[in-house]
Amino acid sequence: MTTRRMTKVTIFALAAAAATLAHAADATDPTVKARQEAMETIGKSMKTIADMAKGDAAFDSGAATAAAATIAETAAKVPGLFETPADDPESEAKPAIWTDFADFTEKSEALKAAASEADMASLDALRGSVGDIGKTCKSCHDDYRVKK
Ligand code: HEC
Repeated sequence: MTTRRMTKVTIFALAAAAATLAHAADATDPTVKARQEAMETIGKSMKTIADMAKGDAAFDSGAATAAAATIAETAAKVPGLFETPADDPESEAKPAIWTDFADFTEKSEALKAAASEADMASLDALRGSVGDIGKTCKSCHDDYRVKK
């Protein structure tokens, strides 16, 4: 596994992403609520890892490994949670999910793979892995999540 140094740009991009993680209100539709809760679980675990990458939290290999495992497990559930089209005023899901569901599934699998392959043995390795995982979040959000 290659270890890449995290650039300042990446760190700032992650900080910006973390700032937009929170959403204003909870959805009431149960299908939408369930998929948003899964994304929040993924978001919280990503924050655990990103905080270490940025130096906002002390490096903890065990906690980072556990967070990556949570991301991988939750990513595996994403296609099932999104399969049934559902809408809610609080949803940020784009309708394209259901016209390109195979592609959406591939992007979920890319996240699962990046999280499963993450190397949290050292802070340098963690920084490389957080970049790899972050790219898969962005790739899906760019196409399938409404920017608010
Ligand atoms: C396969 C596509 C996909 C991937 C990969 C993905 N997301 Fe999402 N994410 C979405 C979609 C779609 C929504 C909007 C869901 C809705 O509001 O109905 C969303 C919403 C969210 C939300 C807001 C949840 C809420 O409570 O409204 C957070 C936080 C989030 N994603 C974090 C992440 C992070 C962090 C990653 C990567 C570690 C990631 N996501 C990877 C598709 C994806």
